[in-house]
Amino acid sequence: MRFVTTAALAALVFVAPQSTFAQDLDRGEALFDLCTQCHGSAGEGNPMYLAPAIAGFSDWYLTAQLQNFKKGVRGTHPDDMGGLRMYPMSLSLKSDEDIAAVAAYVSSLPPVNPEPTVLGGDPAKGAESWKTCAACHGPDGAGKKDLNAPRLVGVSDWYLFEALKKYKAGIRGGNTGNQQAVMMRGMAMSLADEQAIRDVVAHIVELGN
Ligand code: HEC
Ligand code: HEC
Repeated sequence: MRFVTTAALAALVFVAPQSTFAQDLDRGEALFDLCTQCHGSAGEGNPMYLAPAIAGFSDWYLTAQLQNFKKGVRGTHPDDMGGLRMYPMSLSLKSDEDIAAVAAYVSSLPPVNPEPTVLGGDPAKGAESWKTCAACHGPDGAGKKDLNAPRLVGVSDWYLFEALKKYKAGIRGGNTGNQQAVMMRGMAMSLADEQAIRDVVAHIVELGN
């Protein structure tokens, strides 16, 4: 009896997650249709719409950010041009299941390595600032899930530049309902000025090459 129960359980554990995952991906692909308008059909991003590449990002990070937008703790600051475009889009995801499904789908897309566009950065100077960043984002910029710190290599460089300026100005990380962003804002404060931001972004681009 005990054997049967264990075997039945084991079968459930084995089968259920796989079929749920496949359904999730189908659902995620359908939900992603809306997203392609700005993020592109391969999730490659489009600077004209201020929409970053998202293909192949970790699903835990995608999920967290979609939740943040939906809760209004990201993308609601009046000076956040990109965020204000993304915030209403997050409201089209009606449930946690929708968010999980679209995150799983986006995460399954092959990562893109967007062409660098930010000029005038000195990667050697940026490497000095990066020492602080590496503690959370990893020495190679691959991110650390246990610290909620996302991957930064392979991310659109213009978006990294804008994101760091926004953290510094409190346009991102100014809402106490979003503690991870508040913390990251403190880190961005260690970059003295716009040139220091250019430098660290140039270093992150180098890490990805
Ligand atoms: C109207 C254009 C538009 C549409 C449609 C759109 N987005 Fe966005 N999205 C943006 C912009 C602009 C940003 C950058 C926000 C910022 O600068 O903080 C963004 C940011 C994001 C981010 C955060 C990326 C990061 O690195 O933190 C995720 C995740 C995301 N979008 C997912 C989606 C998903 C999933 C959909 C479809 C349900 C979607 N977006 C639809 C414009 C759009
Ligand atoms: C103590 C840990 C920690 C340190 C140190 C840190 N970060 Fe972060 N970083 C995070 C976390 C957590 C997030 C997610 C914040 C959020 O949800 O807004 C983040 C987000 C970011 C983002 C936004 C990514 C995106 O896709 O929107 C950028 C860019 C970034 N960090 C760059 C840096 C740079 C450059 C440094 C060094 C000057 C740095 N970080 C130092 C933890 C850290």
